[in-house]
Amino acid sequence: MRVVSSVCELRSALSSSPVLVPTMGALHAGHLDLVQRARSSAGPKGQVAVSIFVNPIQFDRPGDLQAYPRTLESDLEKCRAAGVDLVFTPSADSMYFPDRSVTVMESSLSATLCGATRPGHFDGVCTVVLKLFHQFQPSAAVFGEKDYQQLAIIRRMVRDLDVPVEIIAAPTVREIDGLAMSSRNARLSETQRADAPRIRRALLAAAETTEPTLLLATARAAIESPLNRIDYLELVDAETLLPASDRSRPTLLATAVFYGEVRLIDNLLLPAL
Ligand code: PAJ
Repeated sequence: MRVVSSVCELRSALSSSPVLVPTMGALHAGHLDLVQRARSSAGPKGQVAVSIFVNPIQFDRPGDLQAYPRTLESDLEKCRAAGVDLVFTPSADSMYFPDRSVTVMESSLSATLCGATRPGHFDGVCTVVLKLFHQFQPSAAVFGEKDYQQLAIIRRMVRDLDVPVEIIAAPTVREIDGLAMSSRNARLSETQRADAPRIRRALLAAAETTEPTLLLATARAAIESPLNRIDYLELVDAETLLPASDRSRPTLLATAVFYGEVRLIDNLLLPAL
């Protein structure tokens, strides 16, 4: 496995178009599942590449950027064990010119959910992902459905800007108690960690309800605890991500929940009724 940190080294380490898994590190089994999917897509002879970059321009709270877990040595070990061929670990200074002035902005799918509560977040995501696509020139890239809105926005970016990269979606990998795996879970206290599986249980419990207002009220009541604060809880059209007034089309029940300073997200795709 090669580990490189400049675009120059990256270019010479690439033998062909790799399959790319973009990450911010603090790797867990969810990320490694993406790596396995990248391997299946690349084939035994193809290159699987992982980028590890805590992208400063997608963080809306400076405290969150500062506290984001950084575990490079164990990340590299996990990549090696998972059969990754190439890891790219750029510095923030090498990724962004101090006077950078071009940003990729998606203006429709980012109007709700995390886009509404984290101003500028998806501009930062789109900008870094497009840069990574230019740097790696991958044939395909793998993204998790845990970040459903991110996946939808990247698909839209690729469609609207004719980016020749196939986007592969991977289902959410969970802990045994249902909590979606996240790098941020490591920042939960023991009591917060024990409380957090209620998020998943609440989404599942609400899924049977037909009427959106009642459905959201059911989910809200089941998520709320003295240990958390709901950032948003919304039922949106699974395609447009705009609020859904009924369930005649597939919908996404999505939430972001704060445990102290730690913000967790989860979602559940609901079929049309
Ligand atoms: P990060 O949060 O590190 O996630 C990297 C990839 O792993 C994303 O595609 C995310 O959806 C996926 N992922 C995270 N947890 C998962 C889980 N439990 N199951 C399945 N997939 C999971 O998302 C980002 O980084 C950044 O925004 C990035 C795209 C790298 C741009 O900076």
